[in-house]
Amino acid sequence: MELDLQAVKLNDAIKAANPAVLDMLSAKGKAIFFPKLGILAQSAEANGKEINATIGIALEDDGSPVALPSISKNLNLPANDAYPYAPSPGRADIRKIWKGMIEKKNPGLAGKTFSNPVVTAALTHGLSMAGYLFCDEGDTVILPDLFWENYGLIFTNAFGAGLDTFPTYTEAGGGVPEGRFNTAGLKAKLAAPSKNGKKIVLLNFPNNPSGYTPLPSEVKEIVAAVNAAAAKGDKVVVLIDDAYFGLVFEDNVYKQSIFCDLGDLHPNVLAVKIDGATKEDYVWGFRVGFLTYAIKGGTPALYEALEAKTGGAIRGNISNSSNPAQSLLVRSWSAGEYESEKKQKFDLLKRRYDEVKRILAAHPEYKEQFSPLPFNSGYFMCIKPKADPEALRQKLLKDYSTGTINFGSILRLAFSATPTGKLEKLFENVFKASRELSGN
Ligand SMILES: Cc1ncc(COP(=O)(O)O)c(C=O)c1O
Repeated sequence: MELDLQAVKLNDAIKAANPAVLDMLSAKGKAIFFPKLGILAQSAEANGKEINATIGIALEDDGSPVALPSISKNLNLPANDAYPYAPSPGRADIRKIWKGMIEKKNPGLAGKTFSNPVVTAALTHGLSMAGYLFCDEGDTVILPDLFWENYGLIFTNAFGAGLDTFPTYTEAGGGVPEGRFNTAGLKAKLAAPSKNGKKIVLLNFPNNPSGYTPLPSEVKEIVAAVNAAAAKGDKVVVLIDDAYFGLVFEDNVYKQSIFCDLGDLHPNVLAVKIDGATKEDYVWGFRVGFLTYAIKGGTPALYEALEAKTGGAIRGNISNSSNPAQSLLVRSWSAGEYESEKKQKFDLLKRRYDEVKRILAAHPEYKEQFSPLPFNSGYFMCIKPKADPEALRQKLLKDYSTGTINFGSILRLAFSATPTGKLEKLFENVFKASRELSGN
């Protein structure tokens, strides 16, 4: 495919700043650009004119957006912050605020460079756009074997990239996990010869389904493994799915995003942070997320080119993300109550987490039927049952009115969604159902 001149310009800018980044892009990623000419440019030129017949929305005679009263009566937002399109890379205000929030939540970013966040229609879309930009047919994405199942649809079904997994935890023997992230497994995958000099890694902490976040010592080992691959000459794209960022319930666990460490590691390592309000701010249906880049030596020109490519991919895909949802979030983040409200909700989830830990400690007999996998954060925890997980799930549904998720050899339990007072019963039900199935 012959590249559009606008794509060539972006590629030249990327190459001039860091040729490794150009090598990381997929064929689609190399070809995409944000159209600065055409409709958008002509619309921008008409801005402020007496008659502006360029905009693809409908305006009343007084210039306000046409709106149906049956909608606006339920909407407590100025019409201009709700009805018109948001820009493809997102509203300027939300991008600026989120950048500041990333910095505040990650003190380790102080003095480091990273791009402006580009708004996506939440994290699934951010991951998909990362797939668009970095994954070619036949590429592989390296990740732990406990992963969010939608990665298959996102990377494999849509972009033809395989998932190459390693066991999530080190083993104590006999299939029983120790409480350690398997950094050696990641290291081995990264050290293996690469097909095209490129490696794509996907990290998700706190993890879905396991609820695990690495300790600082494990983060160091992960970073060293990525660095070793980069030093050998591989171009490494690390996709960092920070969906559950901030929900860390133990003090000894790494609290910042690994984006801080990977984003200025090596000129061959591009860190791509995919995060958003979905889980962090409990607005699952709003569909607002962000995609942010960092690389050692990253220049404004490099970041602008990556942002433009991301904006172009979004423009050709969903055009832009929900304007009312972005506006509501900007208002919440600017309100004085935001921090204390967030703390209240964190405390709710932490109480549930503590209650799960208490229940497990109070019932040593549960170990006869299931072992909990290491967990310290997020929405979930997993158990490895003695009984067949699918049979157990079915029995829990049928005889105990209890829903769980079967992840193959394990069951996932969402303490985030279980009333605190029902957690005791949840585990008791699992224990009883498993005992009935296994016959002892
Ligand atoms: C690990 C992980 N990443 C991403 C997502 C998707 O988030 P969003 O609803 O923002 O698309 C989820 C949702 O369950 C998730 O568990």
